[in-house]
Amino acid sequence: MDARMTTDPMIESPQTEPQASSELDVKPETPEETKPAKQVRMPDPKLDPNSPNVFEVRDLNLYYEKFHALKNVTIDIPKNHVTAFIGPSGCGKSTLLRCFNRMNDLIDGVRIDGSITMEGQDIHSKDLDVVNLRTEVGMVFQAPNPFPMSIFDNVAYGLRCQGIRDMKKLRVVVEDSLRKAALWEEAKDHLHRNALKLSGGQQQRLCIARAIALEPKVILMDEPTSALDPIATAHIEDLIEELKKLYTIIIVTHSMNQAARISDKTAFFLLGDLVEVGDTSEVFHVPRDKRTEDYISGKFG
Ligand SMILES: Nc1ncnc2c1ncn2[C@@H]1O[C@H](COP(=O)(O)OP(=O)(O)OP(=O)(O)O)[C@@H](O)[C@H]1O
Ligand SMILES: [Mg+2]
Repeated sequence: MDARMTTDPMIESPQTEPQASSELDVKPETPEETKPAKQVRMPDPKLDPNSPNVFEVRDLNLYYEKFHALKNVTIDIPKNHVTAFIGPSGCGKSTLLRCFNRMNDLIDGVRIDGSITMEGQDIHSKDLDVVNLRTEVGMVFQAPNPFPMSIFDNVAYGLRCQGIRDMKKLRVVVEDSLRKAALWEEAKDHLHRNALKLSGGQQQRLCIARAIALEPKVILMDEPTSALDPIATAHIEDLIEELKKLYTIIIVTHSMNQAARISDKTAFFLLGDLVEVGDTSEVFHVPRDKRTEDYISGKFG
């Protein structure tokens, strides 16, 4: 099928996979990432402890052909919280993240059993509109992947795919999205400049703005800062703190420090098992499982 015939924000994109420039391509394996967290955030007093769950995952198994990548995973994702997925490479973090907007549908040989509901609706139901799901559940990848077009056109892209042509409306949404992504001040005088000329950190905020423009309920982030320098990383982390007031965020990170700093809930995975999930302060201070303790104290990873 001609990709241009769909409005699926994931399939429609000129490039669905992150396009890394050579300098952003390299995933820094800094020792910092595997060090125990220095600072663990205290529970956010502004969070509603009775927040409803956006997602409820029950006994989820996922197989790539015969390989059992996720094993009986059961987890709740509360609304307006930041939930971090941590664990060593290959433990299934990205695989689970991709389940939430059914991105794994795009991979041959994937089989899933168990259930995921979003606001009570089974996301694997035949009645579910996957295009709509991917609009409500946006995704930001590891390497920033702006499309090779202007800043304005990047942010307006999804809306134009939905058939919106009214420039007045597009301008409003572009400005609002860039403001929410903390990029407006830097970008407002260059909206028609090619997005590929932005710095890596600006490109990642642009990708967040592009996701926000579709008014998602959830933003999935797969190691969104691992290709960025510490200053750009701090920008994105501050932004996540702001964004959770409006959206539910699930972030995969290799950095223990980052999970401890920015997340409200932390889930630790190992070899496809969800070993432990709970309030970040508890998971880091009083882990229930010895394997979690060993991982967060840097004994393996
Ligand atoms: N498309 C695929 N086909 C087959 N196996 C896959 C595929 N994608 C992932 N896997 C396997 O599933 C397991 C989980 O992979 P996943 O990418 O979810 O891990 P991860 O925790 O995100 O790792 P990392 O931290 O390195 O990104 C790994 O063993 C991986 O090799
Ligand atoms: Mg991954």
